[in-house]
Amino acid sequence: MIRVFSDPEGLSRAAAEEVVRIAREAIAARNRFALVLTGGSTPRRLYETLAGKVVPWDRVEFFWGDERAGPPTDARSNYAMAVQSLLRHLDIGSSHAHRMRAEHEDLDAAAEEYESEIARAFGLAGRGEPPPFDLVLLGLGTDGHTASLFPGTQALREQNRWVVPSRSPAEPCLRLTLTPPILNAACHTMFLVAGAHKARVLADVIEGAPDPSRLPAQLIQPRAEPVMWFVDRAAAVNLRRSAIASP
Ligand code: 6PG
Repeated sequence: MIRVFSDPEGLSRAAAEEVVRIAREAIAARNRFALVLTGGSTPRRLYETLAGKVVPWDRVEFFWGDERAGPPTDARSNYAMAVQSLLRHLDIGSSHAHRMRAEHEDLDAAAEEYESEIARAFGLAGRGEPPPFDLVLLGLGTDGHTASLFPGTQALREQNRWVVPSRSPAEPCLRLTLTPPILNAACHTMFLVAGAHKARVLADVIEGAPDPSRLPAQLIQPRAEPVMWFVDRAAAVNLRRSAIASP
């Protein structure tokens, strides 16, 4: 499903409504909402909007889809952005924020540790079938990456691990990322894409020939339900009209 909004503000408001709807559904069903946050700049307004919403935040568990190597205080940290725009406004304990410890010298150990953190949060003994996050938020890079799954990298081929170290062509190069197996186990998946600079890659990913090594976002094919695309008009300009649902 592709929903097109006039601008990033309209996209953020609608995305916030959808996040709240899914949160309430999950909490009603399982008394818990496991939400994977994305990094980048697009989601910031969504997070700021969510901060003003009425949600049983003490039933929400926050996870990250990826993180840049470095301390959680680094201005480029996805965790820091989420704290600044959302978490600091919520009256929840730090135990609800399952942060990737990307400050580790050994990112492979940090990946293993995060996998254990996810397993613990879902009451699982250890790695096996990836658990189903209730909602995964994702962005789209102009090179077709999502999370920190970058074109032509080893992480794209990971079929067992839930979290792996990764490498970005842009600084900060070293990353941690969730892998396609766990991303595709999610109950709901929402891409947030805004800006004219994303128009070409968005059309390539959604309507172009399958080429996931070049366009890793094409690897996101959740089993539970099709991806939801929340995009603004500038990013949607190259999409076929027929593909677009009304906002
Ligand atoms: C990150 C994100 C990354 C992001 C895209 C889009 O750590 O940067 O996880 O996948 O979602 O690069 O970023 P923008 O929203 O800034 O365009």
